[in-house]
Amino acid sequence: MKEKLEQLRSQVLESLDKLSDKKELDELRVRVMGKKGQLTELLRGMGALPPEERPKAGQLVNSLRVELEAKFDEIEARMEEQLKNSRLAEETLDITMPGKRRKLGGLHPLNSVLEELIDIFRPMGFDVVDGPEIETEYYIFEALNVPKDHPARDEQDTFYLTDDILLRTQTSAAQIRVMEHLKPPIRIISPGRVYRADEVDATHSPVFHQVEGLVGDKGITMCDLKGVLEQFAHEMYGPETKVRFRPSFFPFTEPSVEVDVSCGECGGKGCRVCKGSGWIEILGAGMVHPNVLSVCGIDPEEYSGFAFGIGLDRLTTTRHKISDIRLLFENDRRFLEQFSR
Ligand code: PHE
Repeated sequence: MKEKLEQLRSQVLESLDKLSDKKELDELRVRVMGKKGQLTELLRGMGALPPEERPKAGQLVNSLRVELEAKFDEIEARMEEQLKNSRLAEETLDITMPGKRRKLGGLHPLNSVLEELIDIFRPMGFDVVDGPEIETEYYIFEALNVPKDHPARDEQDTFYLTDDILLRTQTSAAQIRVMEHLKPPIRIISPGRVYRADEVDATHSPVFHQVEGLVGDKGITMCDLKGVLEQFAHEMYGPETKVRFRPSFFPFTEPSVEVDVSCGECGGKGCRVCKGSGWIEILGAGMVHPNVLSVCGIDPEEYSGFAFGIGLDRLTTTRHKISDIRLLFENDRRFLEQFSR
């Protein structure tokens, strides 16, 4: 028995020396110590020994088991250490390598100017509301006091989808949609895309953008209109900018005005940008027509209000000295990247 154990011991130690990886180690461990392993076999063979020799033999088998167990563990730990070291060596990072700069998107100039605009109106108490781009005749014309024979209804200007449904030509429909649901006090702006059957050139596009504004309350006057819009122009273009109110006409406001700011390019002297006039038109506005209030169930004897429609594309081209409105729609990245913040 003793010899058999000795023989097994040296045989195992020898094999342990020749192992090349953990798989082989595991296999050897099973072969020696497993349920059907060589050492277990020897233990079983003890039944054949005379009873008085059994305790001694048991001790020998056990001490060999302990010894080999420790040896296996030791080698296993060494192998794992080696594996870890070689993996770490492989994964070494060269922190002196130059980094890769990732291209980040940026806001489109129309959106960044819109954000500036919202930042001006919000502190004055205006909420931002959205409206549909596909509208009905009722919201675009009828409720806005545009009579049936008004030239604005002409198919030349308006993209009709059906007799009654059209692409909105102005964001003013927001006035009606808001006043149908909200009663004064009202202070909203409503930005969005609008569509008109215009030829494309440096200042026209069949798709462009407006920001509608509406204020309604008791005792609102033209003074409020002028105050709010002057404040807006000064914050947008700088305090030195001059603001001019010209009488105009819109069916849904009375009286109506158009608002010009002094040309930022020439300071008002007259240049190519302002076509020699020294002024740039940026919006239309007026006191909400009593018919429009009535249609929405608001008593014009009790309440009044003003509305305005800002041309966002014009605002953006003048704000950033962009010479051609088409640049805003072509989405050439070389152009857009100049504005990403
Ligand atoms: N909707 C008008 C336009 O498109 C602008 C406007 C809005 C005028 C609100 C007065 C009041 O020209």
